[in-house]
Amino acid sequence: MSVDQLLQKILKKKALVGIIGLGYVGLPLVLRFCEEDFQILGFDVDPKKVATLKKGRSYLKSIPSSRISQFVRSGRLDVTDDFSRLSERDCILICVPTPLTEKMEPDLQYIEKTTDAVRDHLRKGQLIILESTSYPGTTEELILPRLESTGLRLGKDFFLAFSPEREDPGNKRFTTHQIPKVVAGVTPSCQKAAVSLYHQIIQKVIPVSSPRVAELTKLLENIYRSVNIALVNELKMLADRMGIDIWEVIEAASTKPFGFSPFYPGPGMGGHCIPIDPFYLSWKAKEFDFTTKFIQLAGEINISIPYYVVSKILDALNERKKSIKGAKILILGVAYKRDVDDARESPALAIMDLLQKKGATILYHDPYIPVLPPFRKYLFKLKSSPLTLRLLHRMDAVVVVTDHSQIDYQWVVKHTPLIIDTRNVTKNMKQWKRKIIKA
Ligand SMILES: NC(=O)c1ccc[n+]([C@@H]2O[C@H](COP(=O)([O-])OP(=O)(O)OC[C@H]3O[C@@H](n4cnc5c(N)ncnc54)[C@H](O)[C@@H]3O)[C@@H](O)[C@H]2O)c1
Repeated sequence: MSVDQLLQKILKKKALVGIIGLGYVGLPLVLRFCEEDFQILGFDVDPKKVATLKKGRSYLKSIPSSRISQFVRSGRLDVTDDFSRLSERDCILICVPTPLTEKMEPDLQYIEKTTDAVRDHLRKGQLIILESTSYPGTTEELILPRLESTGLRLGKDFFLAFSPEREDPGNKRFTTHQIPKVVAGVTPSCQKAAVSLYHQIIQKVIPVSSPRVAELTKLLENIYRSVNIALVNELKMLADRMGIDIWEVIEAASTKPFGFSPFYPGPGMGGHCIPIDPFYLSWKAKEFDFTTKFIQLAGEINISIPYYVVSKILDALNERKKSIKGAKILILGVAYKRDVDDARESPALAIMDLLQKKGATILYHDPYIPVLPPFRKYLFKLKSSPLTLRLLHRMDAVVVVTDHSQIDYQWVVKHTPLIIDTRNVTKNMKQWKRKIIKA
């Protein structure tokens, strides 16, 4: 199949699309293609996810089962763990994880395994697109040689592109359709095919000149957030020492109509992206004898914030003639951000670990995370405790780590002896000022 034949299939929505990795990124993409009448086959190595989707059910809070079941019933969506079926697909999008190893280096095993599966079933006329976040050069240095080892020719027999995902779980203001998509093919025909595919499902497609540009674009977006969050986190600690409320300062600075974008402090950084992705660039930079100082510094500051929060808890208990050893502390919210069911790399985990090591008894409440699964660095055998009056009365302190919108914070503060607020949820609660500590 030539690029023109592939383009015809894409434009007529007859191209068969396969999506590998059905997580926070892959699943919304699957549904977006289904909404535009494409026939989709989803691939995942997790048999539980495959079985759940086949029954038309969702495992992500942000996606109701009804959105999936309609497409499973109509036959537009099928899922499998049989990777030999990759050869059935005309376009294959890769959305697998890109975490870090213990040594904070890129853990590329998921991209490598997936690329090998694609290579083993590569046939003429296929378009392969990487969506996972990675360092500049991943598409051309890691994926391309493996695909070319089949003897098929790039830009003639198969097409390769990179397009970073900008999914923002829990964000109700922007749907996948509305978020502009940066796209780069390795050759002009790869570019043409990838751009025309995304035009079918995304309002605005932004072609750029090379996969390296697209790869670095995604990293810039995340590094920008990481550095700015670190900046306000550092200023928060200084402002606290000076007796100034950083939240009030940010609110005031935000009234400037140009040249200022507000970022907010918190208990540290979390999630699959911002604490991790910048280190993909630091690692790659070493190959060019270059040290990415801003990334390093932002990482150091953001990693130190849970320690700062714990020191504020210790001081507050001390002030009340209580010791941390034996103190009963409720962590309110363990997800890495508001209204999501994802606790990966959440600062809550570091805070809980530090408090436990100091002898505190920890409970948590999170409406989105009923049980804490094992994490890269932590294993807690804890379930979410129901948020009741009895629970609050038993606690020595409550620490607001995640500001989920369904919690009645007025009620929590009213019935708690001491509240450590890392998210400014107590902004308008001057009447309880004495028991509120901003951290
Ligand atoms: N979550 C986000 O908000 C977000 C936003 C933008 C970009 N990203 C990037 O997108 C990529 C995916 O992230 P995610 O949050 O969707 O991860 P995820 O863990 O939610 O999903 C990844 C899925 O891939 C599956 N998988 C793992 N190895 C596989 C393999 N060899 N073959 C097939 N499936 C495999 C897993 O079972 C899982 O279902 C990462 O590179 C991430 O950095 C994530």
